Amino acid sequence: MTASDDERARTIQAMFGRLVPQYDRMNRVMSAGLDGRWRRLAVQAAQPQSADVLDLGAGTGDLSREFRRAGAAGVAGADFAAQMLRRARRKHGPETADWLQADALQLPFAEASFDVVASAFVLRNLVDLPGGFAEMLRVLRPGGRLVALDITHPPDDLRGRILRLGFERVVTPAAGLLSGDRNAYRYLPNSLSGYPTAEELAEMLRAAGAAEVSYRRLAGGAVALHAARKPSE
Ligand SMILES: C[S@@+](CC[C@H](N)C(=O)[O-])C[C@H]1O[C@@H](n2cnc3c(N)ncnc32)[C@H](O)[C@@H]1O
Repeated sequence: MTASDDERARTIQAMFGRLVPQYDRMNRVMSAGLDGRWRRLAVQAAQPQSADVLDLGAGTGDLSREFRRAGAAGVAGADFAAQMLRRARRKHGPETADWLQADALQLPFAEASFDVVASAFVLRNLVDLPGGFAEMLRVLRPGGRLVALDITHPPDDLRGRILRLGFERVVTPAAGLLSGDRNAYRYLPNSLSGYPTAEELAEMLRAAGAAEVSYRRLAGGAVALHAARKPSE
């Protein structure tokens, strides 16, 4: 990681720390109330019954809670923003997950620690995406499942162009106004610039060594849910 990557990561970390009080409300507004449904689809894709799960970039903990409800044996909710974790612990309690501060690019877990590694709305924030995928695969057990949900570039058709315009011109400014933090919500469309398309992301996962890589689009194509496996030995 270069010095400028490191600086960008620290900026992102501080921004998420600041956003905690408005974060859940803004999620609901910006996803038109659909973010909970998308997380549940991610959990279904991960088949977490009796699994040890890592929720990477856990934020305020909603994905961790869904994993617990779906019958995961144990959940580790990891995030590099301490303020997010404090909120997650208060919101969902210490019994929902082991909440711990950790950087996705340098995870404090031994190889092959989890059956499932999942993330929701985190990939766009990683300053080294191939490095992030390598870490996720390292801590997965052979045959384990990787599931990643995030905003993506809509397809380049009429519906996609309308979605893009609505996102940039309506949703983002409205969220900036409502949250009182315009810079943070300007970051949202900016975080897509230079971010791979859904297909490119699938290719990156394959290049990192993942098997059975697939993805589906949600929200008319504005959100992608990627799934993959660590090859069995
Ligand atoms: C958009 S929020 C998503 C939170 C949660 N997963 C959800 O579904 O609402 C992104 C989260 O990822 C965390 N994050 C970003 N980069 C990270 C990194 N390198 N390591 C750990 N956490 C990171 C941020 O602190 C933030 O809490």
